[in-house]
Amino acid sequence: MKKLLTLTLALLTLAACTQERTKPLDIIPMPLSTQLQSSNFEFDKESKLAIEATEATVNNLTSYLATTSLSLKADNNAQDNRLALKIREKVDGISSPEGYVMTTDAKGVNIEATSEAGLFYGVQTVLQFVDNEGGVPYGRIVDEPRFAYRGMMLDVSRHFFDKDFVLKQIDALARYKMNRLHLHLTDAAGWRIEIKKYPRLTQLGAWRDHPVWKVWWNSGRKYAEEGTPEAHGGYYTQDDIREIVAYAAERQITIIPEIEMPAHSEEALTAYPEISCTHEPYKQADFCVGNEKTFEFLENVLSEIIELFPSEYIHIGGDEAGKASWKSCPLCQKRMKEEGLKDVNELQSYLIHRIEKFVNSKGRQIIGWDEILDGGLAPNATVMSWRGTEGGLKAASMGHKAIMSPGTHCYLDQYQDAPHTLPEAIGGYLPLKKVYSYNPIPDTLNCEQAKLIYGVQGNLWAEYIPTPEHMEMMIYPRILAIAEVGWSAVEVKNFDCFRNRALTAVDYLKNKGYNPFDLANETGNRPEADAPVNHLAIGKKVTYARPYFKGYAAGGDTTLVDGHRGAWNNNDGVWQGFIKGGVDVTIDLGESKAVKSIGADFMQICNPEIFMPAEVIVSISEDNENFEELTHINHEIVRDDALTFKNFAWKGKAKGRYIRYVARPGQYGGWLFTDEIVVE
Ligand code: ACM
Repeated sequence: MKKLLTLTLALLTLAACTQERTKPLDIIPMPLSTQLQSSNFEFDKESKLAIEATEATVNNLTSYLATTSLSLKADNNAQDNRLALKIREKVDGISSPEGYVMTTDAKGVNIEATSEAGLFYGVQTVLQFVDNEGGVPYGRIVDEPRFAYRGMMLDVSRHFFDKDFVLKQIDALARYKMNRLHLHLTDAAGWRIEIKKYPRLTQLGAWRDHPVWKVWWNSGRKYAEEGTPEAHGGYYTQDDIREIVAYAAERQITIIPEIEMPAHSEEALTAYPEISCTHEPYKQADFCVGNEKTFEFLENVLSEIIELFPSEYIHIGGDEAGKASWKSCPLCQKRMKEEGLKDVNELQSYLIHRIEKFVNSKGRQIIGWDEILDGGLAPNATVMSWRGTEGGLKAASMGHKAIMSPGTHCYLDQYQDAPHTLPEAIGGYLPLKKVYSYNPIPDTLNCEQAKLIYGVQGNLWAEYIPTPEHMEMMIYPRILAIAEVGWSAVEVKNFDCFRNRALTAVDYLKNKGYNPFDLANETGNRPEADAPVNHLAIGKKVTYARPYFKGYAAGGDTTLVDGHRGAWNNNDGVWQGFIKGGVDVTIDLGESKAVKSIGADFMQICNPEIFMPAEVIVSISEDNENFEELTHINHEIVRDDALTFKNFAWKGKAKGRYIRYVARPGQYGGWLFTDEIVVE
């Protein structure tokens, strides 16, 4: 009887153990494939760590684990109650060196991979299980990344974020299996890395007369001598950089340094004016490409950079060059003539080609923003696509690698929630859901081209981010969406499920002293944008007396009567933009109709020069010639920091077939944006 009872109990226990797990997985990024049971293995004080790998890997993983909630005693002979990490020549089910296979049973957790990175990512999965649910479910996980490059860029120039801040972010990035941290080290607002050969870069170029970028930018943009009372800013010493690089490497993250050229370089050219076209401090943003001294400078700087950063890739910027001074600079003109360059785009391309040759000669490769395509792409360059996806797709079609970081989905400097609930940002509206929806490989690419999409990156430009707390709020949790876009197969992605996991991650990050955005209390999209509006003018013909701006066409000629209203941001493809003279449209209702209201929303956000109209005139006509003015609204435009929306409408009783809606800009000129002319 006792035997039978024992057997029954054992069978019941076995049945409980092998019951399939029904609880949703709470891991970011979502693993490729899982077969899990409902029981968990739990580590305790006696649990051991057994690693079969090279000495270097054993040391790295042991010292890393000692900093985590899985600080286990090493014992390579442990047969149970252990975390076993094993490097194998080949592991069935995975092809990426970053992949891993994890099996868990009553004896503990076993992770196999073909490289240290794979073991490290298996460990991250274990850590998330342990931190989120106390134990690791029995069963098997086979996991590997979709993309080899999963990056975040931090702009440490516009505001300086110190070494400890960077180390802290590396911890979080590693947890979510991100493997690149791109540091935007140089820009007008501050040069942030010690270069031994050019001390003025940091003695002067790293400091400015106001701590807040926006104030500095709008009030003279002066630099300051290091150590003086007015100096605000900072830089990483070469020792700081070595520490950051080593810390990141232990966490499988490569630091990619960016040295901007030829533009965004006011700080360097104020420190060393002789390599600008006019040789005057404070006057130029672009290096003089005609001057050999420019190449001497850039190559010397890059030599120190290459010495400090083991990264295969060195980012050389390349974006947004004004190129204006090159047109009148005798040296640039001479260079163009001698090299047979037909325009300044080709002059920029000449610089990038030469720099690429130099970087390649040191055994490294360049990455540049997508402008490096202009004037001819350097032969081995990788393109970082930011002005949409076209640059990256073009690079791939030319056989070059591309990293996708389009502004529409990857620019984390935009608002992530209703702007009135958040501190000032550069503009836009990029909620978690939209970041998550990004697919770096569009259907238009063939298989060979798709292989050249190297990965994805979230970019944190810091013009409007003056503090570390604010920076963390902008990073988290949206970078976790980038992490999942970069790692997880499309088939296992699901936003609702991800959002729940992101809520757990937000709590975890808060407990660890980060300042993530409060996702649980997200306000969400502009309510008007959530549901279509029905009205008398839907689908009717609209005639434009003044054209809309092609770059902000939204849905073209039908967009103002399609029933769709815009989100918090002007570039959502629903708001239509007008520059020079404003809006002047006539809607043909097709037949004479009684109307009781005619109105349209406008938005104002002053940084990108989008304003309310100063004047709105609404009129009606039966014959499209004789118009009766229904209302003439004057509006006083006040320049401020807020994003605001306002409806300009007439209400009353009228009849007619043609409706004319005119909105004129005011004293600041700039843009008008409207989304729908609602006629009722
Ligand atoms: C960029 O956003 N200018 C690369």
